[in-house]
Amino acid sequence: EDVQEVETNRIVIVGAGLAALYAALNLAPHPVLMISPDPLGEGASSAWAQGGVAAAMGDPDSPDSHSKDTLAAGAGTVDPAVAQRVTQEARDHILDLTRRGAPFDRDSEGGYVLSREAAHSYARVVRVKGDQAGAEIMRALIAEVMATPSIQVLEGVMAAGLETEDGTVQGVWVEPSDMDHRAAPLLIKAPAVLLAGGGSGGLYKLTTNPPRIRGQVIGMAARAGAQIADAEFVQFHPTAIDMGEDPAPLATEALRGEGAILVNKDGERFMQAVHPDGELAPRDVVARAIYAQTQAGKRPALDTRAALGDAVTRQFPAVAAACARGGIDPVKGTIPVAAAAHYHMGGIATDLQGRATLGQLWVCGEASSTGLHGANRLASNGLLEALVFARICARDIAATTAPDPAEEVTLTFRPGGQAPDPQAVEQLRQIMTDHVGVLRDATGLQTALRQINLLEGAQPDCPAFRNMTATATLITAAALLREESRGAHCRLDFPETNGKVGTRSLMTLDAALRL
Ligand code: SIN
Repeated sequence: EDVQEVETNRIVIVGAGLAALYAALNLAPHPVLMISPDPLGEGASSAWAQGGVAAAMGDPDSPDSHSKDTLAAGAGTVDPAVAQRVTQEARDHILDLTRRGAPFDRDSEGGYVLSREAAHSYARVVRVKGDQAGAEIMRALIAEVMATPSIQVLEGVMAAGLETEDGTVQGVWVEPSDMDHRAAPLLIKAPAVLLAGGGSGGLYKLTTNPPRIRGQVIGMAARAGAQIADAEFVQFHPTAIDMGEDPAPLATEALRGEGAILVNKDGERFMQAVHPDGELAPRDVVARAIYAQTQAGKRPALDTRAALGDAVTRQFPAVAAACARGGIDPVKGTIPVAAAAHYHMGGIATDLQGRATLGQLWVCGEASSTGLHGANRLASNGLLEALVFARICARDIAATTAPDPAEEVTLTFRPGGQAPDPQAVEQLRQIMTDHVGVLRDATGLQTALRQINLLEGAQPDCPAFRNMTATATLITAAALLREESRGAHCRLDFPETNGKVGTRSLMTLDAALRL
């Protein structure tokens, strides 16, 4: 067989969001090759993160309080050691990002402006320009990455699979990310691989994730034999703006932190009857309530008028811009919302060093499952986890891999390859939405497993599609095995939380396929 490969001494980082950029910077001067499907700054979920980074920045808040809130939100499946470490390091990362040029919002005395979000005991979300935290932090880090000689960035390239030998990763198969110009996958052999390529929101029809984020990175690790943890825990954001765009723009939870309320077409403020914290109830509770309103034809909407008036456009420019595109005026009317797939708590299982269960493989960011989020991620803990584990992974890789000098890598693709059939991808998204969404039951999950399996058979030689179906299979199988409701995982046929299964779930793709 005509295997095309290149070999490098660089550490290969798959992905280009916050976790990938920060890991690359923390690895410097260790030579790194970053694989980015889109131009840097585009296409990564981090760039779309509005709320900010959760961090206990001072009195009366504390890392202990942040850790307790993280454990409570996670509904009994958060690893306390991970929560403690991440919350304790949070402040240090905010100071580091500040030094690196992230323009955090400050008050008149120079203190960090802190937003309030659901299930946090204090206002503790550090923000940038109101609702632009992800994009602005990334802008600062991208400038630094471009000025760092040890980091090579290859844009327009997407990872398709991992090459392993005896359970140790040898390299990454890559292909061009432009689906109109296919090429045969090419193997980059490398001393270590760090996966930081995002979650799986786009496996659902309604999602807040950028278009390319469809579970491929989790899928490729699973196909190589890595253990996947907590795959069933998919977080739905309650307030995606429902205006027919795919992906759906986000209306940040910080709006509710400022006092915005949820109403339906009858003008009823329905959250008060659902939870004592009303609009600031835990995210899974609000998402289910919104979903129920949508299903009942009650057209839920976010009303920012009394809380913010015309300040909404100044304080939340990203939300205002999305509304303007959709012909919505939040100053005069309400913003239609729906629950949309937003964050995958589950992912590639890692230990406290960010190591996966395959040799020479590290994972950070949304693709990982470190044990921080459990069944329900606390708002704005996603960027925080990306930062903390990016640095942990970078330090561990640097400590265990020789920083040999490395040439620039050049890729020359040959014709061939196969792009996922767009119709099959849409079918997959429909299956996940119909049967593996906000509400689940055994019959629907079994139907989904059968249908995903049939779809996969239609494109057996397309790695990009098989990565998506692998992740879809894992989410569905784990959801079927968890016969209880917990956090974001809600089983209509098992509505109670069952103390006996309150642990992380671990699964391989082989085991999921045997179900
Ligand atoms: C938001 O701004 O509502 C999203 C924050 C998050 O998902 O952590």
